[in-house]
Parts: sequence; structure tokens; C-alpha cells
Amino acid sequence: MRLKIYGTGSALPKRVVTNDDLAAFLDTSDEWISTRTGIRERRVLSEETLQSLAERAGAMALSSANVAPEAIDYVLVSTVQAETLTPALACDIQPALGLKCMGMDLNAGCTGFIAALAVAEGLIASGRARKILIVSAEAVTRFADWRDRSTCVLFGDAAGACVVGEGEGVKDIRFVSEPRRDVLCATTPPGNSPFAGELRPAEYLKMQGQEVYKFAVSHAFRDVREMLADHDLQPEDIDFYVLHQANMRILEAVRTRLKVEPERFPHNIERTGNTSSATVPVLLDELNRAGRLKPGCRVILNAFGAGLCTGTALVEF
Ligand code: ACO
Repeated sequence: MRLKIYGTGSALPKRVVTNDDLAAFLDTSDEWISTRTGIRERRVLSEETLQSLAERAGAMALSSANVAPEAIDYVLVSTVQAETLTPALACDIQPALGLKCMGMDLNAGCTGFIAALAVAEGLIASGRARKILIVSAEAVTRFADWRDRSTCVLFGDAAGACVVGEGEGVKDIRFVSEPRRDVLCATTPPGNSPFAGELRPAEYLKMQGQEVYKFAVSHAFRDVREMLADHDLQPEDIDFYVLHQANMRILEAVRTRLKVEPERFPHNIERTGNTSSATVPVLLDELNRAGRLKPGCRVILNAFGAGLCTGTALVEF
């Protein structure tokens, strides 16, 4: 595998929504949310657009990678729901970033960033691209049901980005898929075709939390352990486990099963909530900006969610 991460970026909305803010209109409490999830506050799009977040994260990644916009051959945006169905967000962000290249959006739920890494690897291996900008931009608060305390309290909005290109770094990328629409689903408006028969109304995000929880803990642990074993690595050979920030209890369950110290499991869920495919690149960017991704540093990325599916990557910086 010939893929390297050259630079990272991230952007969060300005508006902070605390658990107490939610308790003002929902039958919930800071105590319930923080104990069950680890979340204390999240950032929510209010006056900004998702596009503006994606542009800010993309610009930071270009600058961190020290790569000129003209050197980017492709833009891949992972998003569950952009502001327009068409054009793709990957096209809309290009003028602000000084880019003029092929761009496309992909939706792989919370594993979107790792899916984009895999697509980028294929584009680079086939010679179609040399440098690619990946942006994971998510506005889950736009399709969460704000009357449902069991889901809406979990989510926030964010964008994370990175510039990738040919080089040594990403060692392996894998996916597991077990389609379960009943466990996690949100639908788009049905349109108004006179030929479509009975049109079903759009539905906000619905989730069977405990089912996702069980899937996440068992799969994240198994996927990570298999990745380590196949590369002759022990859990302590990994400097950071950058896992999807969905629930602090999920992170803790995986960490204790792997028997590694808390320092190797960085987290920001307490400040961001679950931002779908943006959680992994946002956390990666925070580590990068804090100077913690030193040369030779080994990182496991793992995300899980809608599909259901999981993605795991082994990366060396
Ligand atoms: N405030 C207060 N009470 C609540 C809240 C809330 N916000 N939400 C649920 N409850 C209540 C329930 O109504 C229930 O009450 P009851 O016992 O009277 O019926 C009780 O709390 C327990 O509910 P559970 O659903 O059993 O709570 P659980 O401990 O399973 O926690 C949670 C729920 C946090 C959703 C957990 O299941 C979870 O984190 N699941 C994983 C979700 C996830 O990872 N999603 C990621 C993929 S989705 C994506 O990334 C886009």
C-alpha cells in the first residue's frame, strides 16, 4: 500500500450546546448524558453552513501539508448528508480553496473517512491522482430528531480533513459490513413523482442504541485485534488508537479489552459529541496540532456505524 497522510485540518461550528441547554427542552439531564456517553457539550451548526466548515478544514489541511491547491488532483468528501444532493459538496468547496479538479461525495456512514482513504489509495495506485484532499463533513444535527432524547443528545457537527498522496504511511485498510437497516436509519424526502405510487414521508434518524453499542464494542475490538495480529504487532506497539467518538463507554470497553493505558486512547467526545465520519479526522488533526504525531508514531484508526459497517486502518507517521 503506497499512501501517506501529508497534513490535517479540522473545523467546528461556533455554537456550543451543553447538556444543560438540552435539558431546557428535553426530559434529560447533564448527569444522564455525561454518565452514559461521556458527552458534556457538542458544537452545532446555527448560522454557518456545512460547506463553510468543510472549506475551513480543507484549507487547514492544505496549509498543514504545505501543498498548493494546483497539486490536488481529486477531492473526496465523506458525508451522510450535504446541503445539496447535487452538485456534490466536493465540487462546491473547490472555488474557496482554489481547486479545479474532479470531486465526489461518498456516504459510508461513520466509516466514511476510512472509506475515503481506501478510495484515495485506489486512485493513487492506478495513477489517476498524486495528491488528494479528503474532507469528512457532517451535519447530523440536521437530521437528528430533536424530540427524541435517546438520539439527539449524542450528536454534533464538524469537519475534519487531510491531504494524502503517494508515500509510505498507511499500511493497511479493512472493512466489515453487516447490513442492518433496522438498527440505524434516516431517510431522504421522497420527491413528488406522479409515477411513484404512495410516497413515504421522510424520517429523522432512528437508532436502536443498545444494538449499535453491542456491534461497536465487539467489532471494534475484533477488527483492531485482527489488524494487530496480521501485522505482528502487540496492543502496546500502537501509540494512539483513534476510534470513532460515539460513546466514551464504547472507547473504554475496547481499551480495557485490549489492556492498554488510557493515554493511548485519545478522545474529544466530551467537547464534540458524535460527529459521524468527521470524528476520526478531527481527532487526528487535534493530535497533529498538539505535536503528538511524531515521525514513526503508529496509529490505528477505527470507525463503526450506519450500514452497519466498520473500517480500520493502520497508519505510520
Ligand atoms: N436522558 C435521560 N434518559 C434517557 C435518555 C436521555 N437523553 N435517553 C434514553 N433515556 C432513558 C430511556 O428512555 C430508558 O428509560 P427506561 O429505562 O425508563 O425505559 C433508559 O434511559 C435507558 O435507556 P437505554 O437506551 O437502555 O440506555 P443505554 O444505557 O443503552 O444508553 C445510548 C443509550 C447512550 C444511546 C447507548 O445505547 C449508546 O451509546 N449506543 C451506541 C450509539 C452509537 O454508538 N451510535 C453510533 C453510531 S450512529 C452514528 O455515528 C451516526
